[in-house]
Amino acid sequence: MDWFNEKKYGLFIHFGLYSVLAGKYKGKEIPGHSEWIMNTAKIPKDEYEALCRQFDPKQFSADLICKKAKDWGMHNVCFTSKHHDGFALFDSKADDYNSVIRTPSKRDYVKEMAEACRKYNLKFCIYYSQAQDWHHPDGFSAYNDNKDKNFTRYLEEKCRPQVKELLTNYGEVHMLWFDTPMGMNYEQCYDLRRLVKSLQANCLINGRIGHRLGDYLTTQDNRIPSFPIEKKWEVPATLNHTWGYKASDNDWADAGTILHRLLRIVARGGNYLLNIGPKADGSIPKESEMILDEVGLWLKTCGDAIYNSRAIEPYIYETPELVFTHKDHKLFIHVLNAKQQAGRKIVLPNINNRINKAYWLNSNKPAKITEEKTLGGYPSWVFFVPDKFEEKYILTLAVETQEKDFKQVAL
Ligand code: GLC
Repeated sequence: MDWFNEKKYGLFIHFGLYSVLAGKYKGKEIPGHSEWIMNTAKIPKDEYEALCRQFDPKQFSADLICKKAKDWGMHNVCFTSKHHDGFALFDSKADDYNSVIRTPSKRDYVKEMAEACRKYNLKFCIYYSQAQDWHHPDGFSAYNDNKDKNFTRYLEEKCRPQVKELLTNYGEVHMLWFDTPMGMNYEQCYDLRRLVKSLQANCLINGRIGHRLGDYLTTQDNRIPSFPIEKKWEVPATLNHTWGYKASDNDWADAGTILHRLLRIVARGGNYLLNIGPKADGSIPKESEMILDEVGLWLKTCGDAIYNSRAIEPYIYETPELVFTHKDHKLFIHVLNAKQQAGRKIVLPNINNRINKAYWLNSNKPAKITEEKTLGGYPSWVFFVPDKFEEKYILTLAVETQEKDFKQVAL
């Protein structure tokens, strides 16, 4: 788990046949996640399959995506090798419903991603929908009748062989990211876990393998726990409201909001797996790129407050505009919506650490913290947010402390 514990921030990529439809079917806007469109709009199998002929994403560049991920301050990349629609983006002998055999592009996208991840020193992770498969006659299909299906046959014919291919043909895989284990019993999930570990012992397995068999917890999509959690965990999350590309979903979070979420996650001991959904031509939506560029810029100067940090006990006087993160001998105080806080006096009562040094992480300029006393006689830190600064979203005060841990005194 070392890299997972240290790195905190990674890229999720949802790409597949659904990207061609971009949320629309027969001219109609289909509600919900775009990658669910086959199920939601009840698209007949042969019609959905026909999308293969249009799948030729000339702009898809694993190299470019990985180069960007690196630049965005991320350390792992998780790519959808097969989503619920059953279409594989890799060369599979187990099932010919895949990009190499069925599409004009004839490309193996998993291979391209694996190679690019290695080139840019990113941990390569693979998403695989292990239970839902709307193409295989015996694959599970949510919200539909699965009564007459032979689910075991699907597992034997498709799921297990494909997982084997993924873990045999693409070098080191750092994580198998499973999803929606609907219809799977404990034995089936355990068996899958055993298969993964027998092929690559160091390959992590996310929480959605089901039956609490994951190496760590995967939260609900976009849900951030309100308190620190001991066990390792990760939040899979979007920048808008869909995973696969959806042309009509323009409700993007801004970089400040994403940074705020990243800080809250990291402060509580979690990891952030943030998604992009490339368009049908394989290009990254401009909006995603702009948001992630800005987040990446902040991480370039303030990454020390994120990487290798660990959960911090909530500060008793937590306020909406402050988030703390922490690592040995360092406390980071993040002032959110910094522009609105310019010049403000901030008082932090009841902190019991001794200060060695304080500086603004964004600019590396020294900062001044005055130590005062609360009415009850406890130590209290006072500092002023500068009047002028470049930073648009978050100002970060780094405090080096004599003590290894963050210390508070009871009221
Ligand atoms: C969901 C959806 C899926 C998406 C995933 C990402 O459970 O079923 O479409 O891939 O979350 O976390």
